[in-house]
Amino acid sequence: MTHKLIVVRDLARLRRQVAQYRKAGEAVALVPTMGALHDGHLSLVRAARRKAKRIIVSIFVNPTQFAPTEDFKSYPRTFEADIAALREVGADVVWNPPVEVMYPRDFVTRIVLEGPATAGLEDASRPHFFGGVTTIVCKLLLQCLPDVAIFGEKDYQQLKVVAQMAKDLNIPSRIVGAPTVREKDGLAMSSRNAYLSDQERALAPLLHQVLRDCAARIGAGERAAGVLAKGRKTIARGGFVLDYLELRNAETLAPATTDAGALRLLVAAKLGKTRLIDNIAVRRK
Ligand code: PAJ
Repeated sequence: MTHKLIVVRDLARLRRQVAQYRKAGEAVALVPTMGALHDGHLSLVRAARRKAKRIIVSIFVNPTQFAPTEDFKSYPRTFEADIAALREVGADVVWNPPVEVMYPRDFVTRIVLEGPATAGLEDASRPHFFGGVTTIVCKLLLQCLPDVAIFGEKDYQQLKVVAQMAKDLNIPSRIVGAPTVREKDGLAMSSRNAYLSDQERALAPLLHQVLRDCAARIGAGERAAGVLAKGRKTIARGGFVLDYLELRNAETLAPATTDAGALRLLVAAKLGKTRLIDNIAVRRK
């Protein structure tokens, strides 16, 4: 039997539904998305099911996190297929607000963080991005009031920024990260992979290969500066225009020192018109 799934576009209706779950003592999980769902998104819904009885998936292509030069208009929109996939995976509510509900004409608030949001990674190439993400995620959390909200490690800096915001603003939802889901050849799943030509798609897994190679070398004690310099060259030779390949403290995202503490290797690069990002943990031997 397929699961009963409600599509909600009205805030009062959403709040009534959440109140009903709460009254029944059912824990609520939120999985925020911009739609064009793939197995990476669906893995977050599965993770949510392990943590809460009721699952809300938001689908909203958030205009404020795109710069005017970016792909807001062309961002893939596959609503019917998304609904079918969410029914299959057992979500309860799809929160799909119209843009006027999220940003009425007189809307003037913007939530802007420092710390992980100014680490010099995504924020360096996309200065508008985290202001848009934190503002919309804060609204989604306050609208849905979930016990837990799940975010992918695929967007590692976003996960850290959202967790910091929830902590700073005392938002009573637990922010939980879930591992990156990959294609068989290692390419991290992304709605934007649909933009890649066949030729670019064949080149794309190099990004993950370089991450793995660099992480293994640094983990084995090789000097990070040399490893990263070689990794950057390999990515450029592979046909990418590199934004960054950086070793960072996995919690603060500050530049990694030789001190103890978990490390994360993060990369962003353009292949033709498509910007790809990825990251992995560095495990010291
Ligand atoms: P979107 O890119 O649709 O991603 C929604 C969620 O899915 C994010 O938490 C993202 O990290 C996660 N995700 C994407 N690809 C993944 C993969 N291959 N494996 C695991 N998780 C993956 O990120 C956004 O939307 C937006 O910025 C949003 C948070 C919804 C705010 O608008």
